Amino acid sequence: MTGLFLTFEGPEGAGKSTQLARLVARLEAEGIAHTVTREPGGTPLGTRVREVLLDPALTIDPLPEFLLYSASRAQLVANVIRPALDRGDVVVCDRYADSSLAYQGAGRGLDARLLGDITRAATGGLTPHLTVLLDLDPVLGLERAARRGQPDRLERADLAFHQRVRDGFLVLAEQEPARFLLLDAVLAPEILADRIWHAVRARVHTVPGQGRTNPIS
Ligand code: TYD
Repeated sequence: MTGLFLTFEGPEGAGKSTQLARLVARLEAEGIAHTVTREPGGTPLGTRVREVLLDPALTIDPLPEFLLYSASRAQLVANVIRPALDRGDVVVCDRYADSSLAYQGAGRGLDARLLGDITRAATGGLTPHLTVLLDLDPVLGLERAARRGQPDRLERADLAFHQRVRDGFLVLAEQEPARFLLLDAVLAPEILADRIWHAVRARVHTVPGQGRTNPIS
């Protein structure tokens, strides 16, 4: 495996999609081979699972909820992420296993050891090289998310749940400071984009004059 695996994480409405799009534009401008994907989703199976997970008409218990996210993740890692990393791409994924630890672990109260065991089975232990965590107060985040339209099943969960999710993410960032780039999502989008690019560029090694890039230096 020679590529670089980047993930974006954060609570609702933190601006992940905006920042992810800006990073992808930078990668494109620099001519760096990349693959963009998301969770849940990113494969035909994942897209169907995503519809189930976000459907506000469904009630899903915490364990099956986690197993559905894991099913989507296992398929995505095997069919999209690993092949892209093997090609040497920079892989940019909108949410990954840290979301399960924050939402299903801290948020829903599932046991962290169980989450870890199943996640390792689903991913073969594949961990991102860099995780951008956009941190935001859930009061602001849910407000921002509400402006985008009808809330999905997760967005409908109560504020206390979303506060636990946010705290869960912050604990993860504290536990692995070398992997996480923790950013305050209230900063101006341009400043956030620059900080993210700075961190990514430091991990991408461009082989000059060869018309191709080797993401890992
Ligand atoms: P999405 O519309 O992609 O939300 P966002 O734009 O905030 O990323 O929906 C994904 C939802 O699924 C989001 O509320 C977070 C949640 N989620 C989990 O609860 N566990 C997980 O493992 C993942 C990947 C996402």
